[in-house]
Amino acid sequence: MKKDYILPSLNEARKRNKEVSDKLSFSLDNRYRTLGEGKKYFIITHGCQANQRDSETMAGLLDQMGYQMCDDEKDADVILINTCAVRQNAEEKVLGEVGALKRLKKENPDLIIGIGGCMAQEEETVRTIMEKYRQVDIIFGTHNITSLPKLLYDVCMTKERKIEVFSKMGEIVESVPVTRFMSHKAWVNIMYGCDKFCSYCIVPYTRGKERSRYREDIIYEVNELVAQGYKEVCLLGQNVNAYGKDLKIDYTFGNLLNDVARTGIQRIRFMTSHPWDFDDTMIKAIRNNPNIMPYIHLPIQSGNTQILKKMNRRYSREEYFELFDKLKAQLPGFAFTTDIIVGFPNESDEAFEDTLSAVDHCRYDNAFTFIYSAREGTPAAKMEDTTDRKTKEERLQRLNEKVAYYANLNNQKFKDQIVEVLVDGLSKRNSKVYSGYSRENKLVNFTGEDIKTGDIVKVRINEVMSFSLNGEAIREDSH
Ligand code: SAH
Ligand code: SF4
Ligand code: F3S
Repeated sequence: MKKDYILPSLNEARKRNKEVSDKLSFSLDNRYRTLGEGKKYFIITHGCQANQRDSETMAGLLDQMGYQMCDDEKDADVILINTCAVRQNAEEKVLGEVGALKRLKKENPDLIIGIGGCMAQEEETVRTIMEKYRQVDIIFGTHNITSLPKLLYDVCMTKERKIEVFSKMGEIVESVPVTRFMSHKAWVNIMYGCDKFCSYCIVPYTRGKERSRYREDIIYEVNELVAQGYKEVCLLGQNVNAYGKDLKIDYTFGNLLNDVARTGIQRIRFMTSHPWDFDDTMIKAIRNNPNIMPYIHLPIQSGNTQILKKMNRRYSREEYFELFDKLKAQLPGFAFTTDIIVGFPNESDEAFEDTLSAVDHCRYDNAFTFIYSAREGTPAAKMEDTTDRKTKEERLQRLNEKVAYYANLNNQKFKDQIVEVLVDGLSKRNSKVYSGYSRENKLVNFTGEDIKTGDIVKVRINEVMSFSLNGEAIREDSH
């Protein structure tokens, strides 16, 4: 193997230690500062919010190198695809996309194509890309984003393909440039990685061990965002309630929420809170700070205790209900959403019925539902699975109908009510209609005058759909 290739290893990615991660400070080498002058880049982002934020880092790095972002891949000198590996269909989509880029590469042999994100962390995927997708010049892992300047430079100089994917746990790198894609809402990483090792999930392997940023770095970032006029921050981590544990300090996510609330930012959200470690300090912080939004995403995954055990989720059906009921009682007016997987290996009809009845119990505002997808290297991928695809699809369909029923039922209480909306801009479907999210994270489409992205407006709801609310902005002085 060429020594320029640092390839991923699932075995390495599985390892964990208890040491506090090193904190590094990034600065761009002078050699790379002008590489991008007169050149353009285009980034395609798949996957979760962590990936959205990572793409903003990639953009920040490229901007510092003199590149300019463009909004058509045909104009680009560099195309980066930030990938997701959580389910097979996400991967297939990316490979299709990379296949389609072959044509652009033919037209412009100097075009540089880079693949980053979670797929780049997978041994098998990297092997496939190396063998079958010769048009790809750079493969860089989730721990290697700050190597992008060097990798781009090396490709320009040598015209050879470069691969750098570390599988080790990773550090915390601060002072990395960022070009945020929105000017009113910002993603703020509070921790990276995941140590939960749910048996079906690839994320602990693609993102490394759980490691928290220091609170002063997070608060500094939020204060900067407030100064820049941002209205909302979303605190990101695969399990935000585990924040701080790896730092071995007596400071938890609940403490951090209070400190972030004190910055005065108007809206705070967080994603994702695992049912594990959802402690009373957190609940108190959420209840006591009006700038923490009344919305909790609490993934259940399955309503059956045996399946939950096989999933390695660390809670039973009853324990989940206990926490859910407590949150519901202590946080009145909050919206609750969840994630659910159907068709986990050997999920029986009865086990699936337990998931349906769990939805009846929790009456979620919404749920993100998925058919189980086997991920190579995870324990669940080795479990025997005799349930056929058609049965899984039928289960998903039944589940989605139930989810839509409760979504609609929950939305009914907003009819003729006034909600506060942070405006994202004109609706994608209708250029006369604005859209944004209510405090409860409901998508609201509305009409109004003199409205700008980033405004917080009051909207009277006159029509209720299952997954959105429609209304009309009201003037502040009219009530
Ligand atoms: N850290 C978050 C989830 C991140 S992945 C949490 O623990 O809640 C987002 C969602 O994708 C998961 O909640 C799960 O429902 C789904 N998911 C993850 N791996 C999957 C797989 N192998 N097949 C199908 N869905 C999966
Ligand atoms: Fe995946 Fe579980 Fe970690 Fe969430 S908590 S990222 S589902 S391993
Ligand atoms: Fe996908 Fe990686 Fe996020 S697998 S869901 S992009 S952490």
